[in-house]
Amino acid sequence: MNVLVTGGTGFIGKQIIQALLEKGHAVTNLTTQCKQEGRVSEMFQHVYWNPTTKELNKSLLNSIQGVIHLAGYSVANKWSTANKALMVSSRISSTEFLCEILNEMDTLPNVLVGASASGFYPNSEEIQDENALKGTGFLSDLTQQWEEASTSLLPSIKNIHLRIGVVLSANDGALKKLTPIFKAGIGSAVGNGNQYMSWVHEKDLVSLFIHCLENNVASGVYNATSDIPVTNYKFSKTLAMVLRKPFFLPKVPAFVLKVLFGEMSQLVLVSQRLSNLKIKSTAFEFRFKNIHDALSNVYGKN
Ligand SMILES: NC(=O)c1ccc[n+]([C@@H]2O[C@H](COP(=O)([O-])OP(=O)(O)OC[C@H]3O[C@@H](n4cnc5c(N)ncnc54)[C@H](OP(=O)(O)O)[C@@H]3O)[C@@H](O)[C@H]2O)c1
Repeated sequence: MNVLVTGGTGFIGKQIIQALLEKGHAVTNLTTQCKQEGRVSEMFQHVYWNPTTKELNKSLLNSIQGVIHLAGYSVANKWSTANKALMVSSRISSTEFLCEILNEMDTLPNVLVGASASGFYPNSEEIQDENALKGTGFLSDLTQQWEEASTSLLPSIKNIHLRIGVVLSANDGALKKLTPIFKAGIGSAVGNGNQYMSWVHEKDLVSLFIHCLENNVASGVYNATSDIPVTNYKFSKTLAMVLRKPFFLPKVPAFVLKVLFGEMSQLVLVSQRLSNLKIKSTAFEFRFKNIHDALSNVYGKN
């Protein structure tokens, strides 16, 4: 299959491209870094695009059967007014330009698998599936706009949106920030520790994107989170245990995180306990179902 990827230079994208190439797919990645443009191998090229100015050399694109859309300015950056505007515009303008490019092709792709986020949901300790109502706040509004953009602009192809939870990887994301703190033996839970975290191992997430691309998965939203969400306390305690470090310090109170990180503190204080039954009903099995096994694998201990 010829697969078009956006945001493929990022943390998740690099791994998805590697896996696509190993499976024999040809990959074109759209990148906003002009220095990256060029052919990497017979099966893989980077093509420069600028979704704001709508720059792209369309002659470099062959017919496309599938799309994986990941591009967006990271929400792990400081939530200043300017950065929040970029988090939104980078996702919406890239989606709009991507859909414009695809709509101009002789043949539309069959499927677009887009990144979305568990931040769509309201703060709750109850199990929530894809039918739950939207939450409130910046992340929830952003994910809704992002999902709606491609669904409305490409109505005649399969649009699949993966609401991704916290991705577990030693090399990036939340664990990259937490590992030095826990390795120093000063890790602790945050807030009241009872807030749920819906997580996914990076290897499962990569498999999930490819599963949605290759198999008969219907259009719609799917929670991309593993079987057993855990509370922040359980997650923090397990992380300390896997790293063989002490876990004795008091929880970091929510107000301290709010003073330090402002509105962005909701990334760790909001509770999301998501069901993954819908994606599992498409014959997808998560390899890492419980947090101990997942963290042990991340740190090379199983
Ligand atoms: N990692 C997680 O825990 C997580 C959880 C939920 C959802 N997600 C979503 O999944 C997607 C991929 O995540 P990731 O962790 O791989 O992100 P990442 O490492 O930040 O990579 C995102 C990619 O988006 C492109 N990008 C950045 N700023 C852009 C802009 N202003 N305009 C257009 N493209 C821009 C970049 O590619 P170029 O520089 O090559 O253009 C970058 O490599 C993101 O959209 C993210 O929001 C991630």
